[in-house]
Amino acid sequence: MDGNAKMRIGVLVSGGGSNLQAIMDAVKGGELDVEIVCVGADTPSAKGLQRAEAQGIPTFVSDYRALFAQWRDGASLPRDFSFEAVAAKQSLMKGVPVDTLRPFLEKRALAEADLLAQLAPYSIDLLVLAGFMRVFTPYFIDGIAASPSQPPIMNIHPALLPAFPGTDGYGDTFRYGCKVGGCTVHFVDYGEDSGPIIGQSSFPILAGDDLDAVKRKGLTEEWSLFPSCIRLYAEGRLQVVERWGTRVVDILPEEA
Ligand code: GAR
Repeated sequence: MDGNAKMRIGVLVSGGGSNLQAIMDAVKGGELDVEIVCVGADTPSAKGLQRAEAQGIPTFVSDYRALFAQWRDGASLPRDFSFEAVAAKQSLMKGVPVDTLRPFLEKRALAEADLLAQLAPYSIDLLVLAGFMRVFTPYFIDGIAASPSQPPIMNIHPALLPAFPGTDGYGDTFRYGCKVGGCTVHFVDYGEDSGPIIGQSSFPILAGDDLDAVKRKGLTEEWSLFPSCIRLYAEGRLQVVERWGTRVVDILPEEA
């Protein structure tokens, strides 16, 4: 990227896209100096696609359900996919038998190859997962790497990681009886919701709050946390370092 060009962001959604909206609003409002160059989804019914189209942002769909069906029908796997190589790197499914792991990784390789191909023309610097409800295997993560020095994928998760990874962060937080909930923005690594943490925001869970109230409070936090983390990335202020055996993010001070 040359010195004056804006960072090129791709966004993936699966659902309503309120986080996408918050990011687009931050760009429009001048708080976030990046260009959203495309928005993709894993299903054609994702409402976030309409939000992007309303702003004139190009959209695409990698229909995971249809692509998984193609795998069941015997579609050939991507030529650059090696089950052994991806299985050795991944930590999404540890210790599972190979006849469970193989279909899990092969199906995803087919879907992820489609996603990589659809993203390729946009030359993105950063991929932002804004409510994208699919995990990525190392096949995709290695395929998207924009720059060797920076992790290329950022995700928002609806819990204070490392508590409550998985698909229902606010629900798990609420049912556990937590008195504080929160959300986390992190880089994506080869595990599920396990990558280096960039930012977190919390809120109280009060007596009388139901799950809807928890989700409402959480989303409100997400809408400011996510754009602020993307801004730090765009400003080159996120540095991943290894400390005490863990990869963590240092936030560098603002340039004077
Ligand atoms: C958000 O709460 C986000 O944290 C969560 O999905 C919701 C999407 O809302 N993401 C995950 O659970 C990722 N595993 P949105 O579509 O309105 O932005």
